[in-house]
Amino acid sequence: MTTIIDGNEIADRIRADVSDCAARLADEGVTPGLATVLMSDDGASETYVSMKQRACEETGIEGIHRVLDPDASAETLLQQIDDFNDDPSVHGILVQMPVPDHVDSQVVLERIDPMKDVDGFHPENVGRVVTGDARYKPCTPHGIQKLLEAADVETEGKDAVVVGRSNIVGKPMANLLVQKAPGGNATTTVCHSRTDDLAEKTRAADVVIAAAGVPEMITGDMLSEGCTVIDVGVNRVDADTEKGYELVGDVEFESASEKADAITPVPGGVGPMTIAMLMYNTVKAASLQSG
Ligand code: GUN
Repeated sequence: MTTIIDGNEIADRIRADVSDCAARLADEGVTPGLATVLMSDDGASETYVSMKQRACEETGIEGIHRVLDPDASAETLLQQIDDFNDDPSVHGILVQMPVPDHVDSQVVLERIDPMKDVDGFHPENVGRVVTGDARYKPCTPHGIQKLLEAADVETEGKDAVVVGRSNIVGKPMANLLVQKAPGGNATTTVCHSRTDDLAEKTRAADVVIAAAGVPEMITGDMLSEGCTVIDVGVNRVDADTEKGYELVGDVEFESASEKADAITPVPGGVGPMTIAMLMYNTVKAASLQSG
C-alpha cells in the first residue's frame, strides 16, 4: 500500500503549535507581525500571497500587505523594505518572488534585515544553513523535512536525489539533507536541466524530491520500488475546467504511486507546509526580536 502523505493535516498540526506560541507572545505584549510585498500581477503569485495573509489571520499573526505596481521603480520597493526594517511591529518581511525584470532580486533580498528575513533568502541566512547554524530555515525545504519526519521516512544513510537547483528549493533542500542533524545525514545528489541520464540517478534514490517546475517530468519508470517521492511542483496546465487550467506536480502521480511507498499529492502535499513554516519562522522572528 502506498502512503499518500497528507500535507494539509501535518501543516494544520504545525499551525496549531504556532498559534499557541503566538498567543503566548501576545500575552507578553508582543503580537508577531508579518509584512508581505507583492510587486507582480501574476495570478499565481497573487494567490500565494493571499494564502499567506489568510494564514496570518488564522494563527494570530498581524499581517501587513503592500501591493506595488509592477512598473514601479526598484527604489520604491527598496524604500518599502527600509520602512518595514525600521518598524518594530514588523518581525518578518517577505517579498514575493519573482519580482519584475527591471528589479534586481538579489539587491532586494539583501536589503531585508537578516533578522526579519523569514524566507531565509538573505545571504547571511543562506550561509547559516550551509554551516549548520540555521536561524530561519527556508520554508519549503524545512516543510519537506517535517513531512518526511511525520511520515516516518528516515533520511540518515539514505540516497536522496533533489531534482532542481533553485535558490528557493533545490539548493537549500540539498543543504538540509546533508546536515549532520535529524532530517539530514543523507547522501545527496542534485540534478538539473543539464544532468545526463536523470532516470539513472532517480532510480538509485531512496528519496526523490522533484522541484524542477516541469509538469509530470518524473514518471514511475524513473523510480525504484519502495522509494519516497516529494513533489514540489505546482504547474498550471491548460485544461477543460472552470478556470481553464489544472494544477499538476513535477511527478506523474499515477505511475509514481505504483512504485513509491510514500508520495505527496499536488495539491495538498508540500504547498500547505511552505505556508505553515513561514508562520513558524515569523513567530520565531518575533521571539528573537523581543527576547
Ligand atoms: N515565490 C515562490 N516561492 C516563494 C517563497 O517561498 N517565498 C517568496 N518570497 N517568494 C516565492
